Amino acid sequence: MGTQPPAARIRAECYRFLQEHVYSQAGIVVEEDKHYLFESRLTPIVRQLGLGSINELCALLAATREPEISRRVAEAMTTNETYFFRDPEQYEAIREVLLPRLREERREARRLRFWSAAASTGQEAYSLAMVLREEGFGDWDVQILATDYSSQVLERARAGSYRQIEVSRGLPAGMLAKYFERSGADWQIDEDLRRMVRFETFDLRESMRVLGLFDLVFCRNVMIYFDAETRNKMLRELRGTLFRGGWLLLGGTEVACGIEAWFRRQMVRGVNVYAAC
Ligand SMILES: C[S@@+](CC[C@H](N)C(=O)[O-])C[C@H]1O[C@@H](n2cnc3c(N)ncnc32)[C@H](O)[C@@H]1O
Repeated sequence: MGTQPPAARIRAECYRFLQEHVYSQAGIVVEEDKHYLFESRLTPIVRQLGLGSINELCALLAATREPEISRRVAEAMTTNETYFFRDPEQYEAIREVLLPRLREERREARRLRFWSAAASTGQEAYSLAMVLREEGFGDWDVQILATDYSSQVLERARAGSYRQIEVSRGLPAGMLAKYFERSGADWQIDEDLRRMVRFETFDLRESMRVLGLFDLVFCRNVMIYFDAETRNKMLRELRGTLFRGGWLLLGGTEVACGIEAWFRRQMVRGVNVYAAC
């Protein structure tokens, strides 16, 4: 029936096809009984392509393996939830302990490298940029690399333009006033902050050696979407991205099984930070 949502009934073989597709494309595990997730995320693509259902989308993908559609389907299945200063106690630990240590250790070179490894729409990287500016690193050579699998979220991140509801989440009013300008109904981030961050697509299952070395890596709230094999490989790779004395931060409530094989856990101001073993 024409008025029914096109994704209403996903056939079992189509469900399996989509699970495998999203896993092979992005490493994301979609469990059984997540029909609603496929439905809500893929229905817009079904409509844009003028198809009648998710089953038709599967048939098209299976028949053509069209790269653009393959990618769009996988990107649609990423969860991009993020906000400014998420897990604020981590930013406090960075401000009060990690940055003072780095300031001391890197005082000769005055160069710092950061990586936001699952950056989504950029709030994580820009929050860090604000902390660095507040802490007086304006005249240091500072770069923040921010990567994500999804080119769509990175496009938004690069633009540095946020809706009212997004700046109302986690961003202190003083920071909003200082680092954002009204642009119609939205808020545009300060150009100098935007220049501190480089956004690039990167799949966390790839070799990370190409990215160089970092003093601090955020890899927060992404490992939950992967299976143990992908997580282990990723942790091993992450270890190789840190300068001596550098740190890895996971999401505030994340526990990564097997991380102790590659990292030493330290408690800093009540926050877990991980140093390479
Ligand atoms: C929930 S967001 C986390 C955003 C931010 N790190 C935070 O904690 O607020 C997870 C992000 O991981 C990205 N992601 C999923 N699979 C990925 C992969 N294989 N490689 C790189 N990024 C991936 C998604 O696109 C999404 O933007």
